[in-house]
Amino acid sequence: MMKRDRSTNGIVACAVVASIFIAAASLASVNATLQGNPVSGKALYQACEGCHSIDANDLGPRHRGVVGRRAGSIEDYTYSSALKTSGLTWDEATLDRWLTNPSALVPGTKMFFKIDDAQSRADIIAYLKEQK
Ligand code: HEC
Repeated sequence: MMKRDRSTNGIVACAVVASIFIAAASLASVNATLQGNPVSGKALYQACEGCHSIDANDLGPRHRGVVGRRAGSIEDYTYSSALKTSGLTWDEATLDRWLTNPSALVPGTKMFFKIDDAQSRADIIAYLKEQK
C-alpha cells in the first residue's frame, strides 16, 4: 500500500502553480513583441496607399528605407514641423506607437490614420522592413 506523503503533494502543487505563472508570463511577452508577417503586411499596406507609396511622395512621404530612417527626413517632401523636429527614428517600437495613434506620438502631425489591431501593425511594419 502507498503511503501518502503530504509534503510531496505540496511540492507538486507549487510546481503546477509556478508553471501556470511562467506560461502566463511568456504569453504576455509574446504579446509585447508580436511577430509580423510581411505577406499579410503587403496586403494591409493597401490601406496606406491612399496617401503613400513605396517609391514616390504623395500626400504622405515615400516609404522605401523608412525603417531606420530619421523621422521627417525625406528632402523633397514637406513635413509638418512637428514631425520634422520630433527627433524620432523609425524602428519597430516607434512605428508601432505611430500607427497606434500618430497624434499621440507627435502632437501636431498631419497624418491622421490609425491601425487599431496590434497584429496588423506588426505585419505592416514587417513589410516596411523589407522595403530597404
Ligand atoms: C490619409 C492619409 C494617410 C494615410 C492613409 C496614411 N498616412 Fe502616413 N503620413 C501621412 C502624412 C500626411 C504624413 C506626413 C506627416 C507629417 O508631416 O506630420 C505621413 C507620414 C508617415 C510616416 C513618417 C515618414 C517619415 O518620413 O518620417 C510614416 C512612417 C507613415 N506615414 C506610415 C504610414 C503607414 C504605414 C500607413 C498605413 C498603415 C499610413 N502612413 C497611412 C498621411 C497618411
